Amino acid sequence: MNYKKEPLGWIIEEDVFDPRRTGKCESIFAQGNGYMNIRCTLEESYVGEHRGAFITGTFNKALPDEVTELPNLPDVTEMKILVNGERFAMDAGKTEGYSRTLDLRTGEVVRTVNWTSPAGVKLRFAFRRFVSLKNEHLAAFRMEVTPLSGDVDLVIESGISSRTSNSGSQHCAEGEKRLVEGGALRLMTRTTQSDVPVVVHCLHKFTPAPAASLPVMERRCFVNRYTFHVAKDETLSMEKLAAYHTGRDLVFTSYGQPAGSTNAMQVCAAGDACLAKAAGHSYEDLLAESAACWKQYWDEQDVVIESEDPFDQLGMRFALYHLNIMIRRDDSRVGIGAKGMTGEGYKGHSFWDTEMFLMPHYLFTDPKAARTLLEYRWRSLPGAFKKAEENGYSGAMFPWESAWLDDGEVTPLIGGADIVTGKSIPILTGMIEHHISADVSWGVWLYYLATGDDSYMDQCGCEILVETARFWSSRVEWQEDKGRYEIRDVIGPDEYKEHVDNNAFTNYLTAENLDRACDVIAQMQERWPNAYASLSEKYDLAALSAQFQDVRAKLYLPQPDADGIIAQNDQYLGLEKTDLSKYKAQTGVSSIYEDYSPHQMNQMMVSKQADLVMLLRVMPDLFDADTLRKNFLFYESRTLHDSSLSHGQHCVLASWLGLDEMALDMYRHAIHIDLGPNMTSSDEGIHSASMGNVWQCAVCGFAGLQWHADHLSLDNHLPACWKRLAFRVHYRGAVLRVEMTRDAMHITKLSGPSVKLVVNGVEDTL
Ligand code: BGC
Repeated sequence: MNYKKEPLGWIIEEDVFDPRRTGKCESIFAQGNGYMNIRCTLEESYVGEHRGAFITGTFNKALPDEVTELPNLPDVTEMKILVNGERFAMDAGKTEGYSRTLDLRTGEVVRTVNWTSPAGVKLRFAFRRFVSLKNEHLAAFRMEVTPLSGDVDLVIESGISSRTSNSGSQHCAEGEKRLVEGGALRLMTRTTQSDVPVVVHCLHKFTPAPAASLPVMERRCFVNRYTFHVAKDETLSMEKLAAYHTGRDLVFTSYGQPAGSTNAMQVCAAGDACLAKAAGHSYEDLLAESAACWKQYWDEQDVVIESEDPFDQLGMRFALYHLNIMIRRDDSRVGIGAKGMTGEGYKGHSFWDTEMFLMPHYLFTDPKAARTLLEYRWRSLPGAFKKAEENGYSGAMFPWESAWLDDGEVTPLIGGADIVTGKSIPILTGMIEHHISADVSWGVWLYYLATGDDSYMDQCGCEILVETARFWSSRVEWQEDKGRYEIRDVIGPDEYKEHVDNNAFTNYLTAENLDRACDVIAQMQERWPNAYASLSEKYDLAALSAQFQDVRAKLYLPQPDADGIIAQNDQYLGLEKTDLSKYKAQTGVSSIYEDYSPHQMNQMMVSKQADLVMLLRVMPDLFDADTLRKNFLFYESRTLHDSSLSHGQHCVLASWLGLDEMALDMYRHAIHIDLGPNMTSSDEGIHSASMGNVWQCAVCGFAGLQWHADHLSLDNHLPACWKRLAFRVHYRGAVLRVEMTRDAMHITKLSGPSVKLVVNGVEDTL
């Protein structure tokens, strides 16, 4: 890969075609707009490719014994190109001058290549594509082919294929194919279980026109076969437009309406109209419209980094690019998938990744989008009530993995191979990784602190805080001998530790959840009357508050031991101290699974990701600086960073602790998670939470942004090799511009009411 292409900091280039990188490039070059994402699979087919088109919220369960997942919808990217009867493919013949670039400024991918066929025919190809940020339904493609060694006969087959699957699981019915007015191909299908109508259109325009055009309908495939005779040095150009619409589009469904109630013909009509309108515009015009939206995004959201290593900047912009295409900013029926919509990894499900890793970014750059995400949690309460009830608890127990609003828990039950037993590893997170309920509440309170949005609290926030606190009150276990409540048999953030007791992160976040629930109960009647009306009808709020306070007061919260170390859980400090150097030096991730079973790892003092460190990062005021530092160094030495969630949070805490070199090293690890040399780690999609982490590294880590009850604070921790860092922050209705160098920090209020800040320890009001 080449990251030094001009303009520096904006272009990601694959400069050599290497089939080993197929999946990685499909994911990192994926394009989208929050409504849909299309993987950047090449037009011609290769072994190992995974074509993918995903639309937010279209969840489906392929078979009764599978969990619901985001379906891989019909594909429009594939094309067969025959040159005098030989199939164009870069793994045959000779390829020269190959380049594929993603321009982060516009979201366009351009591929150019000179190809000599096995029979010696030379051609130049240029492919371009984008998914529109202006019209969320639209994707556009352009191809130019120029024969260089003589006239050629070309056959091009292009259209729609519903042969796509999620690793073999089919989510769409065969569907109905037809040519519609204006020559567009149309496929109308439905998801097999959730019954969501899906309509895909595809229209081709050629200059010069084809000698012949023939529609070809096959099983799960509908293409047009075009034939051309192209003279040497003449350029054939093709423009292809594709449109996707589904019955879950907001225009068709009000909240809560079942998808099947949308008439597929309405969806077809919307698609017909959308395509007919777009057909009147050229690729360039449509690109310009979309690029203007990208420009506006960058004007508002860019984080500028002037570093000795320009990759520091590119990694940040790459993260911001994906942060923009993974989120549907105005539809609170959908969350963000752990891989966004760039691949089928984690099945399109949302995790705690949203609140703890992504939320700070959206909250401080586009608070409305953060509200949408937290409304999604509120709309998912029925699933959380269902999960609590099924497990014998009260209140809201949020699913570890979430999909559609009322799906409830969707975590799969089995994973990869156990090297010792030879069986599939059972996945217990859906059953016992309970901290997510406290994480959602943490997100709610953080949102309130940063926005003061009383209407959200009134409609959603109070209910979430109270219902999750009810869950925790039923979840804690009284230990008569110790005279305290404990939370036993959980998985904390460190998923290498199962069935642990008193995971510190879980217990402290539970205490926070209970505190905040008491706070809102105390203020509800006056401040949030609607919440008060509905919750006081269901509960005696004074009695609930007393119960929460009692649990909170008696909840066990682990404290530093004689050496100043806080136990990650009751078992951790007694575990075997295996030598981890081999795994700490790994180039990929999770290599420990090649030597040990999860059962064995459970007995070893080894962590997958930030756990106790995560607690210290989100609640830095719990302990003094010396305890923070000691625990950071102790736990980091036992952590393999086998989750992409880990490095970024370590970076933030390392910055605060003045561990400058380590902080920068962690930042660079974070930007390498998807862009680095590992050829396969992103095959199933990019790592969403890591994108949020990259933003947190710079803004929360190096610029020291922290939120408090009534103000924001900033502290200068800029790495020595960074000359400048600049970004915008939204806070309580104001927009601030922060400009930092190693010696100075300038903060300008661009708009909004006055805000209180503490900058490098000095208080000021802007
Ligand atoms: C991590 C979880 C995370 C999930 C999705 C797992 O590998 O351990 O903390 O929520 O991936 O990103």
